[in-house]
Amino acid sequence: MAIKGNIIVGQSGGPTAVINSSLAGVIEAAKDAGVKKIYGMHNGIEGLLKEDIIDLNDHIKDAQDLALLRRTPSAFLGSCRYKLPVIEGNEEVYEKLFAILEKYNIQYLLYNGGNDSMDTVKMLSDYASLHNKPQKFMGIPKTIDNDLPMTDHCPGFGSAAKYIAASMKEIIRDNAVYGETRTNICIVEIMGRHAGWLTAAAALSKGPDCCGPDMIYLPEAPFDPEDFMKRVKELAKTKKSIVIAVSEGVKLADGRFVCELSGGSDKLDAFGHKQLSGVGTYLAQRITAETEFKARSIEFSTLQRCAAHLTSLTDADEAYGVGYLAAQKAFEGCTGMMVTIQVTSRKPYIVEYSQFDIHEIANVERKIPQKWIINDGTYVSDEFVKYARPLIIGELQPHFAGGVPVHITLE
Ligand code: F6P
Repeated sequence: MAIKGNIIVGQSGGPTAVINSSLAGVIEAAKDAGVKKIYGMHNGIEGLLKEDIIDLNDHIKDAQDLALLRRTPSAFLGSCRYKLPVIEGNEEVYEKLFAILEKYNIQYLLYNGGNDSMDTVKMLSDYASLHNKPQKFMGIPKTIDNDLPMTDHCPGFGSAAKYIAASMKEIIRDNAVYGETRTNICIVEIMGRHAGWLTAAAALSKGPDCCGPDMIYLPEAPFDPEDFMKRVKELAKTKKSIVIAVSEGVKLADGRFVCELSGGSDKLDAFGHKQLSGVGTYLAQRITAETEFKARSIEFSTLQRCAAHLTSLTDADEAYGVGYLAAQKAFEGCTGMMVTIQVTSRKPYIVEYSQFDIHEIANVERKIPQKWIINDGTYVSDEFVKYARPLIIGELQPHFAGGVPVHITLE
């Protein structure tokens, strides 16, 4: 394997607890292959366009730094939500980017992100093949939403799912504290955008010591607020403590997001996505207004993607693995592809890594199979639990100082 130049890596989109494990994998693969310069994009492709580049050799110097990097949540290099324009008519953007790559003798570009970020890998590799450029472009999967196609699951999901499962158990315990003395209802709003994988992870809280949530609402099934109220009132006839998981992206039958009913923001990001937030508050307010029950809502918000103190070891190891392999494949000459994870056995849990054409992946969202959604769209089947359980197994323990986890940062 002849290394032809330097490497650059970027992180993009919403972060996860293990995105930096993928960065660690890239750094180690590059070091193992004898790459001279390992660059990082400061704030993804948006930073690269401004030539805002970090020499990673200056920041991650030894095994101790790498160990801390793996235990640091959010994106060490900073992230962005930047959409590259179509090539035709915007050649100057690409000429600028490729001139920067040439200036630093960068032959390998790796981009770590979700569906939208894979669009960047697609555009760059398309431009390179159109103009006979030698650079290689590889995608590294990442998203708590778990909605990238062609891969069994996405790094970042396992740790977020572990946080959801553990926190749901704790919320369910707390919610039951008043026993028979009052009806206590808690709505838990969970991220995941248009896919319900992460909300479904609330079912992983169920076990011998926990009844699990009473209902789970996913964007894959239309949401009817009147039916929801009917079900809550029915449940309250037999149960005083009720906990319900609801996806931030649940939609009404007419296609509107339920969170829009509470006057959510109309702002769109570069990829045309609405900011989804507020469905939990809306539902809790309705319960308060229409019943005598006590209702509250909890929005996990960014906690679910940065809770590195509860990182799944399986997830962290896989995140490292896909980063390492993406670099190796680029060195071998692979381009225009994303690394994927295949589960060859769930019990015992065995995975293999591969790679797939980026054109089949960019901008495509993978949803929960309808057959896993049960009880008229209010729960998930055991099949989902069997699928997701192995992904949350094991813990990557933080390093502590002064009672709190230690992180490594660029500052
Ligand atoms: O795509 C990951 C994700 O965390 C989604 O679950 C969520 O809807 C979105 O990012 C939030 O984006 P931002 O960090 O831009 O607010």
